[in-house]
Amino acid sequence: MGSRLRSGAAVSVRACAKINLTLRVTGVRADGYHGLRTVFQSLAMHDTLTFVATRGPFRIECDDPRCPTDDSNLVWRAASLVWQAMGRRGELRGVTAQIKKRIPLQSGLGGGSSDAAAAIRGLSRLWRTTLPEPLERSVAARLGADVPFFLGGGTALGLERGDLLFPLVDFAPTWVTLVIPPFGVSTQDAFGWFDGDCVSARPDSPIDGPNRRRDEGGFWIGATGGRRTRLAPGEYRNDLEASVAARHPDISRIVRALRRRGAHYSAMSGSGSSVFGLFTSKELATQAAGALSKNGRLAVVTATVGRIRYAALTDPRPLLQA
Ligand code: C5P
Repeated sequence: MGSRLRSGAAVSVRACAKINLTLRVTGVRADGYHGLRTVFQSLAMHDTLTFVATRGPFRIECDDPRCPTDDSNLVWRAASLVWQAMGRRGELRGVTAQIKKRIPLQSGLGGGSSDAAAAIRGLSRLWRTTLPEPLERSVAARLGADVPFFLGGGTALGLERGDLLFPLVDFAPTWVTLVIPPFGVSTQDAFGWFDGDCVSARPDSPIDGPNRRRDEGGFWIGATGGRRTRLAPGEYRNDLEASVAARHPDISRIVRALRRRGAHYSAMSGSGSSVFGLFTSKELATQAAGALSKNGRLAVVTATVGRIRYAALTDPRPLLQA
């Protein structure tokens, strides 16, 4: 356990990003959260977290000065919950969490949530504990609606707040160009704008979003040839996109530009601000990234990651001590 750890023992964990291949808002819940029907997809792009056994109180260090290093960081809250779940009392201590941040903040790519899931895994390994799976899931759900997805990754359908998860057969391996505008969007703002736009569009229906189609067909998830997840064409949409794009028109410009440059689908991810394009070839994905990295935008080429590779990529690794 922590107190018996040699100072300097360390564990490193990758925290992969996600996109939402589709995001439908199905209602507003009694707890104020929105009901969702979303398909999460994990990506190879990742932060790296290293947990080092140190003396003294818990600390976070991050190479991105915009990332909070106090107890508002989900990594801190994850550490507290794991500490309590292990039956520890008193002040959280004995570890420094070092975060190498590559997933931009407030980009809809799940960086904070993925870091939190990585903290649950990494600290469990460092503290040599195994939380029973239901406890691990409930710790993750307490940290945020997206966090449970990052325990398993791959392709998954998320219902309720997005935290009731159904693993799907992996989406076909795909190149992904991410374009991150020079502004972020807070999740709370995006849902607030969506609600406001719904009320002004149809006062009697708080969930009938501005871009919602009346002729909506059923939702189906199938497998092409029994192997890959496929969504019905009408399901490829993000209900939050129109409301965020109304405040940040660059979002729609990027969506259109990615399609012009060969993406077979492009949309805003989650609550924004990033926009993704799906490409069948790395060359096209790279060309699109080159063309779109201007006006303060960051463009990155990455790829989808299936469930088995996700497990290998995000498995905590003990670091050898000098
Ligand atoms: O769960 P998380 O802390 O990531 O959510 C941030 C905010 O986003 C919530 O406080 C809520 O306002 C909004 N949200 C929502 N419905 C969801 C997920 C998030 O309204 N399903």
